[in-house]
Amino acid sequence: MENFTFYNPTKLVFGKDQLEQLPELIPSHVENVLIVYGGGSIKKNGIYDRVLKQLNKRALNVFELKGVEPNPRISTVRKGGELCKQNRIDFLLAVGGGSVIDCTKTIAAAAKYDGDPWDLVTRKAIPKEALPLASVLTLAATGSEMNAGAVITNWETNEKYGWGGPLLFPQFSILDPAHTISVPKDQTIYGIVDMMTHIFEQYFHESSSSPVQDQMCEGVLRTIIETAPKLLNDLESYEHRETILYAGTIALNGMLQMGYRGDWASHNIEHAVSAVYDIPHAGGLAILFPNWMKHNLDVDVSRFKKLATNVFQVEESGKSDREIALEGISKLREFWDSLGAPNRLSDYNINDEKVDLMAERAMVRGPFGNFNALNKEDVVAILKNSL
Ligand code: NZQ
Ligand code: ZN
Repeated sequence: MENFTFYNPTKLVFGKDQLEQLPELIPSHVENVLIVYGGGSIKKNGIYDRVLKQLNKRALNVFELKGVEPNPRISTVRKGGELCKQNRIDFLLAVGGGSVIDCTKTIAAAAKYDGDPWDLVTRKAIPKEALPLASVLTLAATGSEMNAGAVITNWETNEKYGWGGPLLFPQFSILDPAHTISVPKDQTIYGIVDMMTHIFEQYFHESSSSPVQDQMCEGVLRTIIETAPKLLNDLESYEHRETILYAGTIALNGMLQMGYRGDWASHNIEHAVSAVYDIPHAGGLAILFPNWMKHNLDVDVSRFKKLATNVFQVEESGKSDREIALEGISKLREFWDSLGAPNRLSDYNINDEKVDLMAERAMVRGPFGNFNALNKEDVVAILKNSL
């Protein structure tokens, strides 16, 4: 393990009807709240009304920013930043999935920044201050509810980057599994693929010793693999929604990544794909990650073998380490196929036309990946194998 300091200040409020805590959770000095939400799912499923009912228990001026896009845009962040400045907003409440939370995090910093918020996303400027924010999560996937990262797209320039820092942690996040029951099947599948990939990205790291972390990762993965088919057969199951919701948070709130740096190359490549084609984040991951695995198999076969045996229960007898490792990759592919996740870029009508552009976008900060550093040729090879 490497030396590490763990810091996560987000208060996690988990369970049925926990939205009732909202009025007390918002700091007492707050006067002007901006609620941020997406394309309207919260109006259809009643969460919007429930949030307003709770906010109305306090003497708050409530402002709204609606229409945050999946793969949230910098244009919406700019709009939100201006709204905050004009209305002296002193607290932001994201109500939605990862896109809404990421947009809200970036608005929180934009509200205290005089330049163009794209400078923050591209790390040309480091924010010195941000407004406080919190979330009411409605979709199990990204872990954004309990981490300090945000991913923002600039559609004019076809760029999508992750950025972050301690100012972006939500003060609190309210997670009621009942709020995720209306998530449609396709988004439920994407969420499952996303959280699994977050764990894989951490599992493949450069450190030599991580026995506790490995078993934590393997345990969460096995639980997701066991629960996902049950949930997809019964989307209204509170119990399975609860398990998947908690798994999504634990997968990316820093708990599994203490003492090492995960790989994260597949996320970087996927962000480049989404920047050019605007596909769902985890749709891209479901296609790319198994190809990243095959590309990197020989970097450390033992790591892939460990995953194959401990998570995918691959029988070892009579097989070489490489065969076991490859069988593990096939089992992952089969599992995601069985859920109904996409498996080729052609599923999104993506052909080889813009492979070079996507690879360039992925390379913008130079070679990347902590398990194995990828250069442009590697990225092109992974993308071509994914077509
Ligand atoms: O926009 P609305 O109408 O709310 O509908 C959304 C959206 O269409 C819908 N939805 C959300 N909750 C629902 C619901 N529909 C019915 N019932 C509910 N309860 O689902 C659709 C997708 O929502 P979105 O927020 O885009 O999904 P997700 O949570 O998967 O977020 C994806 C974004 O997060 C980024 C991705 O790149 C992508 O931009 N990521 C953020 C990370 C982070 N901050 O740590 C890490 C991730 O790896 C990821 O990159
Ligand atoms: Zn992700």
